[in-house]
Amino acid sequence: MKSISLGSLKQAKSAGEKFAVLTAYDSSFAHLAGQAGIEVVLVGDSLGNVVLGHDSTVPVTMDDMIHHTAAVRRGNDRSLIVADLPFMAYASEEQALDNAALLMQAGAHVVKLEGGAWLEETVLMLAERGIPVCAHLGLTPQSVHKLGGYRVQGREEAAAEQILRDARLLEDAGADLLVLECVPAPLAETITRELAIPVIGIGAGAATDAQVLVVYDMLGISPRTPRFTKNFLAETGGDIRKAMEAYGEAVRTGGFPGPEHSFN
Ligand code: KIV
Repeated sequence: MKSISLGSLKQAKSAGEKFAVLTAYDSSFAHLAGQAGIEVVLVGDSLGNVVLGHDSTVPVTMDDMIHHTAAVRRGNDRSLIVADLPFMAYASEEQALDNAALLMQAGAHVVKLEGGAWLEETVLMLAERGIPVCAHLGLTPQSVHKLGGYRVQGREEAAAEQILRDARLLEDAGADLLVLECVPAPLAETITRELAIPVIGIGAGAATDAQVLVVYDMLGISPRTPRFTKNFLAETGGDIRKAMEAYGEAVRTGGFPGPEHSFN
């Protein structure tokens, strides 16, 4: 597999070809993901839950993200590496620029941030300075205390319209990718159709351009596994690389997610 770029992901969307995204937090898993042909590796702040044992992503720091992003990049020179800006690392534009620069210098190709219209100027500013951005809408785990729990977002008409408006706004501001987490499948389908940039879903139905899963969830080793995930290790005889390949293949051929992994 040759190295994946934002350009190749945009071409995939235009050609109607789906791609797979998997989280990784260390060099060995990142290497396996590259070997398995996973197009995008996300150094998610979900590492707070699955690696560090916190009950949310709120305690994750920039030092954590830099440390894990550098490890992932050392293990994988094939996939596009997206890294999360953690809680309060982009509360102001100045913080966003400084911290995004640190993640890029640690090895990220793209930085991800959670939130809607309030991030318009931040996305514009990062894009103008040559920093690719992945936006994240729907269930935004860094706001779990404000949201009142890990719940499907955008079920009511007004909330769905707000998410669609935010998605358009962030694309216009210069976002290169969008993650949609835990939204009804029909809403994700509309947003995917309306946006030119690739839309990556998790708990957002089968119509998005790509899917992302937390690697420990798809290997069945997380203490709690959400309904929208699937254990691919069970069906590949315990071989992690094969499980990653099976996940990638299932995403590209439309075999995952099924209706049982989606919300309406
Ligand atoms: O942190 C993470 O792993 C994420 C994905 C669940 C999208 O943001």
